[in-house]
Amino acid sequence: MSLLLVLDLDDTLVGDDRATAQFNQWLMAQEDRVTLVYSTGRSWISAHTLQTEHKLLEPSFWVVAAGTEIYGQGRLDSCWAARLNTGWDRQEVLALAAQFPALTPQQQAEQRPWKVSFRLDKLLDAASHVEVSKRCPGSPTTLVALKDRLDRAGLSAQILYSSDRDVAILPLAGNKGNAVAYLREQLGFLPKYTIVCGGSGNDISFFSGPERGILVGNALPELRFWYLRHSQPRHYLACRLYAWGILEGLAHFRLAEPVIAP
Ligand code: GLC
Repeated sequence: MSLLLVLDLDDTLVGDDRATAQFNQWLMAQEDRVTLVYSTGRSWISAHTLQTEHKLLEPSFWVVAAGTEIYGQGRLDSCWAARLNTGWDRQEVLALAAQFPALTPQQQAEQRPWKVSFRLDKLLDAASHVEVSKRCPGSPTTLVALKDRLDRAGLSAQILYSSDRDVAILPLAGNKGNAVAYLREQLGFLPKYTIVCGGSGNDISFFSGPERGILVGNALPELRFWYLRHSQPRHYLACRLYAWGILEGLAHFRLAEPVIAP
């Protein structure tokens, strides 16, 4: 039985180099059984730097910039890109976001055609007097207000907030979860033979689909909170950290032998 395995990188596959090496060993023993996909919030260049630094095996597909760009054999998937263009007006999104003092642009490399990237300053957010139609417990006021403004301007965009700091504004169609569903359908995998693994807020869309999901033991509170409210039997929250957690989850789904790990 073949498997589509989709892994977040920072603090999931990457975080403990011994665990990554152990995972690589497992993967190499799978021969052609596993189609490997890396899915990250990073840009394509930054994701490749991480690959070299942490000796990650070459995947079949890269999903980068938080699900907005898909690469196979080094080429951008233009059908996926075309879907994201619908209703997306990057300039307008930028202009609206610039009105919020608590948002500071991330470095240029992380500004992508379908991803506008900021850091949220929580002190400025707390001090800001932006108007919102309703408060959302746990969501920074700036982001609630920004979403209001985007909707009112008729801009088809979503806001991702992760690691208590990173803000990404993306087209509605483009997030990690939608990108997995697209790839899975293109490649003809059933949800039960597709496993997604992650550990932070930008992975929530991963776990919202019908695929099986592994949350690593170091998953951040923002994702744990989601898990507490929405988890299904197809989700597994590992005890172990980083790639040890991936291996633990694969063993839980009887796809790998249990591993003795720290
Ligand atoms: C990565 C990216 C950053 C993004 C974050 C969450 O850290 O570098 O641009 O905001 O993931 O998606």
